[in-house]
Amino acid sequence: MAFLSHQVCRGFCSSAVRNVVIKQVMIVGGGQMGAGIAQVAAATGHSVTLVDMSDDILKKAVKGIEGSLKRVAKKKFADKPEAGEDFLQKTLQNVSTSTDPGSAVQGSDLVVEAIVENLKVKQDLFGQLDKAAPAHTIFASNTSSLPISDIASATNRLDRFGGLHFFNPVPMMRLVEVIGTSATSQETFDSLLNFSKSLGKTPVSCKDTAGFIVNRLLVPYTMEAIRLHERGHGSKEDIDIAMKLGAGYPMGPFELADYVGLDTLKFIMDGWSTLEPNNPLFAQSELLNKLVSEGKLGKKTGEGFYKSN
Ligand code: CAA
Ligand code: NAD
Repeated sequence: MAFLSHQVCRGFCSSAVRNVVIKQVMIVGGGQMGAGIAQVAAATGHSVTLVDMSDDILKKAVKGIEGSLKRVAKKKFADKPEAGEDFLQKTLQNVSTSTDPGSAVQGSDLVVEAIVENLKVKQDLFGQLDKAAPAHTIFASNTSSLPISDIASATNRLDRFGGLHFFNPVPMMRLVEVIGTSATSQETFDSLLNFSKSLGKTPVSCKDTAGFIVNRLLVPYTMEAIRLHERGHGSKEDIDIAMKLGAGYPMGPFELADYVGLDTLKFIMDGWSTLEPNNPLFAQSELLNKLVSEGKLGKKTGEGFYKSN
């Protein structure tokens, strides 16, 4: 077959490897990111199953999707409210939910994982899914900071495993980082690129390196803003105003940290400071650690650096 001539497949390869056109998508994790990814996939005509640990979490996720879709529809169909309502209903019809990943993965062309930023938990999930999923199913992680190859190592489908890194809020942010490991096949990588484009996003190709492109720049910047404040060199309010008005950023670093989630920021920093303990860019922040230990995780808990409205 022609594609084998340009296929990069240094891991497990099988006859199941082919260019998969992605129609059925399973998203695991119905938090900020998973719900957003489910929304854009459903809005672009994909059939989506959103999986989380309880029906209550899933109900909340679907409610969030509905709220976000209304905001999108209000803008997109400003002069045609009926078309907006039609878009809302059709998109919601494309979303189903499940608390049983093993059965939800049947019939899925792609799994996108957006659960907690913890290597062991992600490996456990993918290890289980690998046993239940059809051979052609591609697996992708939305991890912010963990090596894709480490997550993939829990499976026997290294050629059909990659990274799809979305940005928060998913319906508004236009970028997707597509990450290939040394074992990801060219067909899988192309399928992930094409899927990202089918969502109306712009993909960039990334290597499997810490933080890929955006977070490798954004996370050290955010941490330095926190340390600058800890050194007494500026209030968080002034630092946020400075970066918005002086650098044109839509949010200041403290607002953005609250928006992303302080737990996620800390998970990223803990991982990187363990890997490179002497790198000053990855030095710990007492203030961040204190807020997380107090359960002040930002927007999702109502308080982080700031109280949310
Ligand atoms: N769903 C749908 N529409 C939304 C939305 C959402 N979740 N959030 C914002 N919008 C749209 C709405 O149309 C909204 O208008 P309405 O309030 O009338 O509905 C419009 O955007 C403007 O929103 P806001 O007035 O709330 O505020 P804003 O103008 O500042 O825009 C923002 C919001 C798009 C989030 C903008 O502030 C922004 O771009 N912030 C930076 C976000 C960013 O940097 N994200 C990357 C984080 S890092 C990451 O994601 C990677 C990682 O691994 C951690
Ligand atoms: P979140 O805390 O909002 O949501 C995580 C969801 O995963 C929760 O609903 C939780 O119940 C669920 N979950 C946890 N373990 C599970 C399991 N074993 N099976 C099924 N569901 C499970 O987190 P988030 O902010 O959406 O982040 C999710 C992932 O996306 C993380 O890897 C994070 O690093 C990454 N990410 C986050 C952002 C961001 O700005 N928050 C941006 C890009 C990538």
